Amino acid sequence: MKQSKYLKILNLSKITLEEYLNWGEAEIPKMPIEKRTSTEESMKIKQSEKVLSPKEKLEALKRTIDSCKECALGKSRLNAVVGVGSLTADLMFVGEGPGFDEDHKGEPFVGKAGQLLTKIIEAMGYTRETVYIANIVKCHPMIDPANPEKRSNDRPPAPLEMETCRHYLDKQIEIIKPKIIVTLGASSTRGLLYSEEPISKIRGVVKEYKGVKLIPTYHPAALLRSPNLKKFVWDDMKRVTHYLDTGEI
Ligand code: URA
Repeated sequence: MKQSKYLKILNLSKITLEEYLNWGEAEIPKMPIEKRTSTEESMKIKQSEKVLSPKEKLEALKRTIDSCKECALGKSRLNAVVGVGSLTADLMFVGEGPGFDEDHKGEPFVGKAGQLLTKIIEAMGYTRETVYIANIVKCHPMIDPANPEKRSNDRPPAPLEMETCRHYLDKQIEIIKPKIIVTLGASSTRGLLYSEEPISKIRGVVKEYKGVKLIPTYHPAALLRSPNLKKFVWDDMKRVTHYLDTGEI
């Protein structure tokens, strides 16, 4: 490059620098702080914008529930019990809350009532793997929270515990998108529908929750105590399978 060209460039840079130094503080354009995103920040934004699969969404939800302390149940439980089954299930069962066996295993409905629920599901032509099973509260409601190793230490969840935990079930419903929900027993029916009607009156009646059809029925533990109630549950389950087969209810 010719010396004259160098001098021209140098001179131009000098003019620009002088102009800059002569600027008043107010004239120097400043980018708003929040717009100055670092690479790390913009990567985080990109990740949160990433579309998660239903599996990833449920895994993330499980991690949140595993460390949840939104109510006192989170402090005494051994394991949070999130749910089990198909992520694309048309049919979702909602019980009241984990008992001793579920708290120890971290899976819903694995005790005696759970074994009966599995039989009901199979009699309907499904399996535990093709439906989804959850509870309205994810942690074991105990009579004596200091004693998680004691059997027969179960109690129904309190209304405030159900209300506090319900947003997790709402998220599960949003991810799985079942066509129909079966609430098992008075607690989960009340917790979702805010209905004071006894379960004997409301069972088998078609309701809706978050735009999804919902049929309440007796809890399997009630069937263990009173086997004469089995026929009502069977009638309710026939309505459920008819709806899933035909779209009519
Ligand atoms: N009863 C429930 O309501 N849920 C369980 O997971 C187990 C027993």
